[in-house]
Amino acid sequence: ISLKPFNTFGVDVNASKFLDVKSISDLREVLLKNHDVFILSGGSNLLFTKDIDKLVLHLNLKGIEVIKETNKYVYVKSQAGENWHEFVLWCIENGFGGLENLSLIPGNVGTSPIQNIGAYGVEIKDTFHKLKAIEINTGKRRVFKKKECNFGYRNSVFKNELKGKYIITSVIFKLRKKNHKLNTSYGAIQAELDNRGIDKPTIKDVSNVVIDIRNSKLPNPKEIGNSGSFFKNPVIAIDHFINLKNEYPNIPSYIISDLEIKVPAGWLIEQCGFKGKRFGNAGIHEKQALVLVNYGNATGKEVYQIAQNIQEAVKEKFEISLEIEVNVI
Ligand code: EPU
Repeated sequence: ISLKPFNTFGVDVNASKFLDVKSISDLREVLLKNHDVFILSGGSNLLFTKDIDKLVLHLNLKGIEVIKETNKYVYVKSQAGENWHEFVLWCIENGFGGLENLSLIPGNVGTSPIQNIGAYGVEIKDTFHKLKAIEINTGKRRVFKKKECNFGYRNSVFKNELKGKYIITSVIFKLRKKNHKLNTSYGAIQAELDNRGIDKPTIKDVSNVVIDIRNSKLPNPKEIGNSGSFFKNPVIAIDHFINLKNEYPNIPSYIISDLEIKVPAGWLIEQCGFKGKRFGNAGIHEKQALVLVNYGNATGKEVYQIAQNIQEAVKEKFEISLEIEVNVI
């Protein structure tokens, strides 16, 4: 079976065996017989460079429910296979605040904790409550509380010690029912709200603005294959940054601590002249240099080659090593 419809990069590779998993009991049953599986969720953060000769399990667990309410909060549980953006819209329609800045992020709910998805000043760790998972080798269920997930910038325990060991089956978020404090601190959001003359924004207003900002910068995977940001924004030492700032006074940055500073990878890549460049079937998005795109028939290897060329150029010009965020398979 071709995995082209199952990855947002739109890369055409084949899986020797493929199973659509619709229930937890099915999942546990398969795992009893087979530990060497490839877990496929929304397919929005991976780049296939070869065929997959394992059993591919397509996680298709569905369902959203409110499991508990207090005066201020509501605990919402979503099964892993729900589309992230549809889940966010469901929360917004119900008046639950906390996820509106994360509108339109591709992928499914079950993979959102793996890289602690984040955008426009918010990360899922801000509203994450718990998750349920199944250990691949034993089929045992386990609950992970927030602390156990070790969330960091685009990072969690599931990308480190526990990489490839668990399948997340559902996630619970703790959202605000009322008096939710909106986060419009990310420059472009507040500017756009002002621009629209909205002085008392609702969660829906913020979501709409985020959707429009994303659409204006990021390619729609249904039209042009991509996996969002291909690299992480690098964190560098202050001394290094000061040297760079002398040479490039316009370099943007976000302070992390007294010792470290984050620099947007998109800016570094653009300075190296890659923005909007096309190499054969793949290239660098014209409006956001952090996003690599497939113009139609690119192979994963072609995209990966471009990524390596970018890493080399950025290293040479800025002495910064860009780390790939997408899972290269
Ligand atoms: N910039 C450039 N040229 C570019 C792109 C960016 O100069 O081509 C500079 C600009 O100075 C801009 C700054 O970089 O002000 C930041 O750009 P942007 O707001 O687009 O954010 P980003 O740091 O490039 C991160 C996330 C995005 C997320 C946005 C908004 C990472 C790796 N990426 O991008 O996440 O949507 O912030 O919060 O942290 C994703 O993970 O797929 C993703 C899109």
